[in-house]
Amino acid sequence: MAGRYPDAWVDEVLARADIMDIVSPHVQLKRQGRNYIGLCPFHNEKTPSFSVNRESNVYHCFGCKAGGNVAQFVMEMEKLTFPEALRHIAKQLNIPEPVQSFDPREEQERSLKERMYDINRESALFFHNNLYTPAGQNILAYLHRRGIDDSLIKRFGLGASSDEWSTLRDYLQGKGFTQEEMAAAGLVHIKEGHSYDVFRNRAIFPIIDLYGRTIGFGGRAMGDIQPKYLNTQETKVFNKRLGVYGANFLRKQRDLNRVLLVEGYMDVMALAQSGVVGAVATLGTSLTAEQARLLKRLAPEVWVAYDGDEAGQMATERALDILQREMIPARVLRFPPGMDPDDLLRSGGRDAFEAIKPMGANGFRLLRLINGYDTGSEDGNSAFSRAACDLIAGVPSPVEREDLLRWLEGETGYPRDVLAEQVRLTADKKGDASAQGKRLPSPRKRAAAGGPPEEADEAEKTLLSLLATGRLPQDMVRPDDFDGPLTQALGQALLAGKNPAQILSEAEDEQVRSLASEVFSRLGDTGIELILPAAEECLRTLRGKKVRKRIEEISRDVDRLSGDDKRNALEEIMRLRTTLNSLMLSQREGKEISG
Ligand code: UTP
Ligand code: MN
Repeated sequence: MAGRYPDAWVDEVLARADIMDIVSPHVQLKRQGRNYIGLCPFHNEKTPSFSVNRESNVYHCFGCKAGGNVAQFVMEMEKLTFPEALRHIAKQLNIPEPVQSFDPREEQERSLKERMYDINRESALFFHNNLYTPAGQNILAYLHRRGIDDSLIKRFGLGASSDEWSTLRDYLQGKGFTQEEMAAAGLVHIKEGHSYDVFRNRAIFPIIDLYGRTIGFGGRAMGDIQPKYLNTQETKVFNKRLGVYGANFLRKQRDLNRVLLVEGYMDVMALAQSGVVGAVATLGTSLTAEQARLLKRLAPEVWVAYDGDEAGQMATERALDILQREMIPARVLRFPPGMDPDDLLRSGGRDAFEAIKPMGANGFRLLRLINGYDTGSEDGNSAFSRAACDLIAGVPSPVEREDLLRWLEGETGYPRDVLAEQVRLTADKKGDASAQGKRLPSPRKRAAAGGPPEEADEAEKTLLSLLATGRLPQDMVRPDDFDGPLTQALGQALLAGKNPAQILSEAEDEQVRSLASEVFSRLGDTGIELILPAAEECLRTLRGKKVRKRIEEISRDVDRLSGDDKRNALEEIMRLRTTLNSLMLSQREGKEISG
């Protein structure tokens, strides 16, 4: 979305800016085939996986999946909004700013958000200054008691809300904010004509986004008041499913090898206080996919360090599932029952914390699995062993499988070879997925965990990149040649005649953008004379797969049918087989296909 700038101007800026010029000051690029590669500026890595494609003017990191066009690179790098990034680039290229078209509704929406950021910034300042007045002295003492010193208080911008009913309201009023604005920011309640502060007598944790804007607050109650932590309600700028507490401090951290994902604000503080870098917390929710993707950009691994109680361990399993779906390497730190990182640091210091070694995600899953079985009994032991082998069969790394097998041998008493055989059987049953060398969780499990990951088929990706060259005959590719929601969305945009830069600018969903930049970075991989045959090959694969799937479905049902229904079904199968044959035939003869 181009905001308030005319599309033509945006297109000109995007077209005239050379991705090489934009990226080069930040990344040392080396030529590799059609692309240029270097070390990704958005995550920490030693071997280059950041690639720049001149033909499509995009970048894509095959490690952290960041990607986009020139404007998005500037947004990420300089922490700018899209219009700001465009202005930044336009200035470098001496392109004058256009006379601004004025869309009152858009303008209003934008200024509403700006007002929310302003009011939050003012409030954060007010809360922070409060700490050092009589109204905040109890809360300051509380923070000190919990081991947080003044320099950390300052760095995190912690604050205090007073015990009174309307000190913040009065302060904000003096700064020219209306009561409606205060209510819209979730700072003031209005009830029967009266208004009062939402946060009272609480230690305040401002929540700051990656661009340094205060988007909301968490407030810790003094004493046993419920709720213990009060978070800002949803506002125009605050969505707790998207934000991560503490992420803003890691944005520029260069050498971070892992993010520590903890449950609470206090854990983040305690870790920072003891010099452990890299802790972040979700905001009173379990980890979401959006948050996971944000974490992926901070470090190459995520270590889940939730509370040692049952709730924390269950939440750990859920977080591991999400991280796996986002293909983020993850490990687990397990704390003694009833302890969170803050408790452990307070009782044993940094040494006790560092004595806890991270365990692999699958090792952790096995430990959780064993809880559900009575392994003291023979039946229980064998049932657990089978379930464990099932899990191990899904682990892609042979070395890790071996480690897990050895552990299982010690745990169950079954010889390693027997267990390995069991794993093999399970793997064979899983069929298709294991044939590709990539074992995915079963479809049912994936659906239960919130929908499948967007594993775009290789053929779909290749086809998209061929389509993006703009050199395929009209109508050769159809929207329904793409299966996944993401590839379909991208295919539709290309078929509608949009160019890569436009698509990337309009892609608000990060997954779509990542797929788009990956696909567009392949532009030029295929020589011009091979574009057509390569596309035919992809179409054959995709259409053939679809026909085969349909045949399978009907064959499964056919036994249950009778009479006309059965005859129709069999005829349909015959028709599909004919289609399949002609698809295959066209392959051997190199004919153009029409599926
Ligand atoms: P915990 O109850 O584990 O808090 O909640 P804690 O971090 O150990 O807090 P202290 O040490 O008693 O101060 C973990 C996180 O869950 C969210 C908060 O984000 C909190 O940091 N939470 C908890 C809420 O949002 N509301 C609540 O009422 C409680
Ligand atoms: Mn705690």
